[in-house]
Order: sequence, then structure tokens, then C-alpha cells
Amino acid sequence: MKFLVLNGVNLNLTGLREKGVYGTETLEEINGKIAAFAKENGDSVDFYQSNVEGELVNKLHEAFLKGGYDGIVFNAGAHTHYSYALRDAIAAINIPVVEVHMSNVHAREEFRHHSVLSEVCKGVVCGFGWKSYVMAMVGLK
Ligand code: DQA
Repeated sequence: MKFLVLNGVNLNLTGLREKGVYGTETLEEINGKIAAFAKENGDSVDFYQSNVEGELVNKLHEAFLKGGYDGIVFNAGAHTHYSYALRDAIAAINIPVVEVHMSNVHAREEFRHHSVLSEVCKGVVCGFGWKSYVMAMVGLK
């Protein structure tokens, strides 16, 4: 299978910000582990990160229009909690999307308990650090 792993706002600072919550591994290191897992399982994976909501919308559209992906693993960061634009983009495409969070958002501040994306996603994984991404790939498989 071919996966697209999408990371949204602030995820580029993973490993450098709030280390007690998100750990000390950088996004590049995490992506390396995800790529290794995919390879071991005969899958391939592309990565994209942006802090700009519209660029993530464009990437979702591009994945849909160009084709080629069997599933998308998406950590939308804080946009998870309020971006109707990302929600509509996920609803618009015919590729299954799994919402992912490294932290257990339900054990954190109240505003993180609600996601506007979950309803249009195939599934949700949270709370397992970088392994949340891998679990989402296993689920999509
Ligand atoms: C996050 C959780 C979000 O609430 C937060 O805004 C993030 C990261 C996570 O991976 O745990 O930036 O998506």
C-alpha cells in the first residue's frame, strides 16, 4: 500500500517543543521510523508538513486528483479542533483518512476533547506518541 503521512501546524517543532507531551524525537526522526516500518511491511510512504491550513487543503486535493494513495494518516495539530476547511477537504476526497495525535487529547485541556475532523475520518488514533502514526497505517491496511 502507499500512504501519505500529513502533519499540520506546529508539528515541525516536534522534539523541540513541549518535550514532556510530545517526546524528544524530531519529526524527521519520527518520519524515519515510519518509513522503516512501511518498508518492513512492503509499503511505501510519502511525507508532508505545513503550518499553513490552505497548503494542507491543497495537499489533500492533490492526493485525490492525482491518485496513487491508498490511505492518508493525518495529524492536523490544533487545526483538528476547529478547521472546517480541513474537515470539508477530507470529506471531499475518496481516500480513507485516519486522524492521529501523539498525545492523548482526551486527557488534556477541554478544547482538545473535540475534533471537527473525526466525523469524516475512517478512524482515530491518539496517545501512543510516534507509534500512533504506525497504528493508523496498520488500521488502514
Ligand atoms: C496534537 C494534539 C493537538 O491538540 C495539538 O494542538 C497538537 C498536537 C498531538 O499530536 O497530540 O499540535 O495533534
